[in-house]
Amino acid sequence: MNGDQVSEANSRSERVSRETSEDWRRAALIKALPAMDADTPLAAQLAEDSRRRITLRGRQFERPATTRILTVANQKGGVGKTTTTVNLAAGLAQGGLNVLVIDNDPQGNASTALGIDHRSGTPSVYDVLVEDADMASTVQVCPDIPNLWCVPATIDLSGAEIELVSLVSRETRLRRALDTYLAQRVERGEPRIDYVLVDCPPSLGLLTVNAFVTGREVLIPIQCEYYALEGLSQLLKTIQMIQAHLNPELHVSTILLTMFDGRTNLAQQVAAEVREHFGEQTLRTAIPRSVRVSEAPSHGQTVLTYDPNSTGALAYLEAANELSQRHADRDAAAHARDGGAAEQERQDDHHQHEQRTIDEEQR
Ligand SMILES: Nc1ncnc2c1ncn2[C@@H]1O[C@H](COP(=O)(O)OP(=O)(O)OP(=O)(O)O)[C@@H](O)[C@H]1O
Ligand SMILES: [Mg+2]
Repeated sequence: MNGDQVSEANSRSERVSRETSEDWRRAALIKALPAMDADTPLAAQLAEDSRRRITLRGRQFERPATTRILTVANQKGGVGKTTTTVNLAAGLAQGGLNVLVIDNDPQGNASTALGIDHRSGTPSVYDVLVEDADMASTVQVCPDIPNLWCVPATIDLSGAEIELVSLVSRETRLRRALDTYLAQRVERGEPRIDYVLVDCPPSLGLLTVNAFVTGREVLIPIQCEYYALEGLSQLLKTIQMIQAHLNPELHVSTILLTMFDGRTNLAQQVAAEVREHFGEQTLRTAIPRSVRVSEAPSHGQTVLTYDPNSTGALAYLEAANELSQRHADRDAAAHARDGGAAEQERQDDHHQHEQRTIDEEQR
């Protein structure tokens, strides 16, 4: 090991031991919480909120090895795409990560919720898609969260579906612009973006196709209501087509249950059905229906800044932690597998070498 490697290893082990003692402290606090049974749902909810607060407040999330780009899509309207985009983005940013939201919906709801100026004429994703503008010229920083940026959508975007039809490389324009922007940041020595979340309109038109070509992962919010799974097969078919023709990396990595109301049988049934079909992709954390979540956008805020201790805010923070942690665990497992395979290969080479030496000596 050279000097740099030694100091990196030292600082890593210091960080790990700091994290371990911090984890112990949090675990001890959680253990001290009074036990609640299912007969007292309100008390159980308060205990769950306390557990989440103790576990997550101030926690630094794992940085992915490369920028993760997630497209948040579901052609069904009002299922919580925008709410999920902005609140997961805020959760990841609070966990110390650098996050970019691309508002790719003419309704501009994500821009509103992040307190980002998006009056007509503001440099926006429309300029990127239709006018070939540099994405950097459209990016704004979120006023409440310094490491969260947004490319806003203005009403101009409502004409883009039609204007894009006649343009060259109409499906890949957003991807090229984003890839250039991410590379420019690195060249300029600006901090790397860890997560990009692209919010989509409730349709499968060219705006959503651009978002699918840009993303490497798809995150599907599913509202725990009747009709929840209707249209899902059409969405999955579209994703398969994009994967086959335009973006081989694209896959559904994450499903998030939204507006979950555990008191109703229907919500329980929908959740159970989704978990049965998409067990691996579905986050353990479900987002409850919560008034604070729906109020936050009218204050130009995410629920994480509007009411950080509310059940909805803590659920989104936990979902953000799960999103980053699952990926980190998978990375670590792949690393261990690769490391294991490399070690096996090294041992095989060594044995072959020894065998050759013995053979030669015997000859
Ligand atoms: N967990 C929640 N609790 C209460 N209300 C919620 C929750 N999640 C979303 N909502 C509300 O439901 C409505 C639809 O949510 P949202 O705008 O995020 O859906 P969407 O899928 O982005 O809609 P669209 O298809 O129009 O883009 C909004 O009024 C939002 O405030
Ligand atoms: Mg929306």
